[in-house]
Amino acid sequence: MQRQDLLHAANEFGTPLYVYDAAELDAALSRVKTAFGDARIFYAMKANPNLNLLRRFAAAGVGFECVSSGELARAEHLGLAGERVLVNGPAKSDEEYAAGARLGATFIVDRAEEVGLLPPRSRSLVRVNPAMQISTHDHLATGSKASKFGVTLEQAPRVLQALADAGHDALGLHVHIGSAIRDANDFTAAFGRLSELRAQTGPLRVLDTGGGWGLGADLGGIAERARATAAVFGAELWVEPGRYLVAQAGTLLTRVVGTKHTGRHFCLVDAGMTELIRPMMYGAAHPVEALWEREDQATEPILWDIAGPACESGDLLARDVALPAPERGDLLALGEAGAYGASMSSTYLTRSRPAEVLYEGGGWQVIRRKENPADIWRVEE
Ligand SMILES: Cc1ncc(COP(=O)(O)O)c(C=O)c1O
Repeated sequence: MQRQDLLHAANEFGTPLYVYDAAELDAALSRVKTAFGDARIFYAMKANPNLNLLRRFAAAGVGFECVSSGELARAEHLGLAGERVLVNGPAKSDEEYAAGARLGATFIVDRAEEVGLLPPRSRSLVRVNPAMQISTHDHLATGSKASKFGVTLEQAPRVLQALADAGHDALGLHVHIGSAIRDANDFTAAFGRLSELRAQTGPLRVLDTGGGWGLGADLGGIAERARATAAVFGAELWVEPGRYLVAQAGTLLTRVVGTKHTGRHFCLVDAGMTELIRPMMYGAAHPVEALWEREDQATEPILWDIAGPACESGDLLARDVALPAPERGDLLALGEAGAYGASMSSTYLTRSRPAEVLYEGGGWQVIRRKENPADIWRVEE
C-alpha cells in the first residue's frame, strides 16, 4: 500500500479507520509456512477475529485457536470444526465446553481440575507453564511463575496420565510463553524445560508450541527449535500464531484534530485508547508516520505526544514522535496495528468502533462498517 492509497482510504471511508493489506496478510502466512514446514497452524483469532480475515486463513488450510464461546461461534459460523479448532482458556465456562464438544474440537487443559470437566472422550493437550523470566511486558508474559496459565512442569505428566485414565484422548503438551517476544532465547529456554519432561511422558503425538513471536524475532530460529523439541517427543508440531500473521498488514489511520503546547507538545487526534489500547495497556510502541507534505514546511520537526480524544490521562497513542508541525485535518498512520488493535477496541464513552477495510489488487472492500451509537445501545432497550 502506498501513501496515496492510505490518503484515498481515509477520504473515502473516514477516520479513525483500520486498513489491512491483503498482500501482507498472505506474505506473513507464507513466511510462517516456509519457516515451520509441515507444522499444523492454528490462527489465534483473538489477534483479529474479523470474519473476512478468518475466511482467508481458513481457505489457506489454517485452523483456529479460540478462547471464548464468541470465538467458537465464529469458527462454527465459518463451518470449521473437528481438528481445525482448539478450545483454550484458563477458566472455560460450561457453554464453552459444550460448544467445543459440539464442534468436536481439541481442548487445551489449563489445570488438573479440567480433567473432570471436559466432555467425554475429548481430544486434549496439557498446557505447561515453564515458569521463566520472559522478555516482554508483564501483562504479555504467560510463561512466568506469576502468570495464571498452565500447570507446572512437575504437574504436567500427572495431568496427562489423568486425562488418559479418564478416557480422554490425551494428545500431548502445549506451551505458550507470552506475546510480542523478540528474544528467541526465551523460546529456546522454554522448549528446553519442556524437553526434560520426555523421560516421564514418553513419546507424544502432538507438541503445540503456541505463538508469541515478535515481529522482529528470528522466525527461522524459533521454528528450528520448535521442530527439534517436537522431535524429542516424536510428536507432530502445532503452532498458534496470532500477532505475527496480522500485525504488519494493519494500519490505523487517524486525523489530527489540533495541537496544544503545555509542558509538552501534544498532537491531538481522532483515535485513542478506544481504537488502539496497546500503547496504554502494554506500553506498546507503534510506528507513527505523518502522511502530509507541505512545501512551506521549513520548521525542524519537534517531538510530539500523540493524544486521543478520551477523557483519560493515559489516552496516548505514542510519546516523543518527531513530526513536522501538524495541522488540523492532517493524517497520521500507526503501523503494526493489525493485531490486538480492532479486536481490543471498545465502545467506552459510546464511541463507535471504527470501520475496517481491506486493500487487495488495487481495490478496497469494507470488511466491517463503522458502528453508530444505536448499534451500541440496541441491546439496552
Ligand atoms: C494460548 C495462546 N496461543 C497463541 C496466542 C497468540 O499469541 P501471539 O498473538 O503473540 O502470537 C496467544 C495469545 O495470547 C495465546 O494465549
